Amino acid sequence: MDKLVIHGQREIGGEVQISGSKNAALPILISTILTPEKVELTNVPMLQDIFTTKKLLNVLGVNVKSEGNNFVVQANKLNQFDAPYELVKTMRASILVLGPLLARFGQARVSLPGGCAIGSRPVDIHIKGFEAMGAKINISHGYIDAKSDHLPNKRLQAATIFMDQVSVTGTENLMMAATLAEGVTTLENAAREPEVVDLGECLVKMGAKIDGLGSNRIVVRGVKELSETHHQIMFDRIEAGTFLVAAAITGGEITCQGVDPGKLDAVMRKLTEAGVDIKVKGNEICAKGQRRLKAVNIITAPYPAFPTDMQAQFMAMNCVSDGVSEMTETIFENRFMHVQELIRMGADIDIKHNTAIIRGVKKLEGANVMATDLRASASLVLAGLIAEGKTTIDRIYHLDRGYEALEEKFNKIGAKIERVSA
Ligand code: EPZ
Repeated sequence: MDKLVIHGQREIGGEVQISGSKNAALPILISTILTPEKVELTNVPMLQDIFTTKKLLNVLGVNVKSEGNNFVVQANKLNQFDAPYELVKTMRASILVLGPLLARFGQARVSLPGGCAIGSRPVDIHIKGFEAMGAKINISHGYIDAKSDHLPNKRLQAATIFMDQVSVTGTENLMMAATLAEGVTTLENAAREPEVVDLGECLVKMGAKIDGLGSNRIVVRGVKELSETHHQIMFDRIEAGTFLVAAAITGGEITCQGVDPGKLDAVMRKLTEAGVDIKVKGNEICAKGQRRLKAVNIITAPYPAFPTDMQAQFMAMNCVSDGVSEMTETIFENRFMHVQELIRMGADIDIKHNTAIIRGVKKLEGANVMATDLRASASLVLAGLIAEGKTTIDRIYHLDRGYEALEEKFNKIGAKIERVSA
């Protein structure tokens, strides 16, 4: 397993081109199942979860051609409806094939994703939604067997679905299914995340009839079929947020290019509150940290509130800021795996239920630490950038799932990060 070795306390500063969004690219790549025609996608990030999605689509018989960040996908020869455990266990988002396969082919067999490091990650909202649309769902031997070819015209039926919790992939799965259902489907308590909107906009370009994108009520009028399109994947707001925190924590000046600042409001507000100088200019955000920041309290919640995917990164920043801060994680039940690792670097953190209490310390010390999940890994990279001495991060396959060439991007702006293959 590869490790990253980070030499701390170097001058960091410069411009970073932000890659396409992992969490927009995954559902959009899978949405190509909904049409037999060609879908061209640009700005697709080159990262592990994308390679896994490509493999999954190939297993289903979908033709995927990629050249760098550009993909051409065509599901005209799709002849398999089974997403195997081997692939689903490595990427939970594979559950997103359920909606499109059901909607277009009336059948799907998808391994239950199971839990992951940050929580149990149930899929009951997805299942309940498909059942509301008339699908017959049987769960046995760790697989979800779904059928809708018993329905009139073998098509899912429209429904009004109230989702008990705001679920990003739950909203995406049901929205994709509804595009080919018979009638008008309403998703109440829908996710408002920009990645859900990006998927919706791509579906509309394919001929879907969707209203309410970005609101908590999405209305989809089913159509007979969807057609070809081309779409540029939106920027990765979590990657951008990670680099903005890097500027804050190192005191350097970093300009994130190719972003939509309006989609990072909650993150920029908290950075400003911490004392970071933020300048927005067109599709660029420039952040400049300062030696000592003020610790900030955080409560994660669905968009447009503070994103759970930025919690670990802000915790690294709070560890070396002045004062005591409280960080409450309301989305996942076990998303503090980075805490023990930060404590090994000298951080002063206590956990009480779903709240971490962080007392700022003067400095962190380099140490051998272990990545446990994607965003926890990012938090350890940030801590390593400012720690005294060397930090070695093990199991960085977690990091490679969600960041495109992170160490190259950091090294280009002054960091010294080496990838060591074990
Ligand atoms: C998406 O996960 C993202 N992944 C996650 O990003 C992100 O942290 C999360 O949304 C929240 O923003 C992708 O988009 C691929 P949820 P998702 O369904 O859809 C509960 C990253 O780091 N829930 O919005 O799986 C669930 O347990 C990843 O890039 C149910 O109870 O998350 C959680 O408590 C990590 N039943 C809450 O809802 C369900 O059927 C929100 O989960 C579905 C979800």
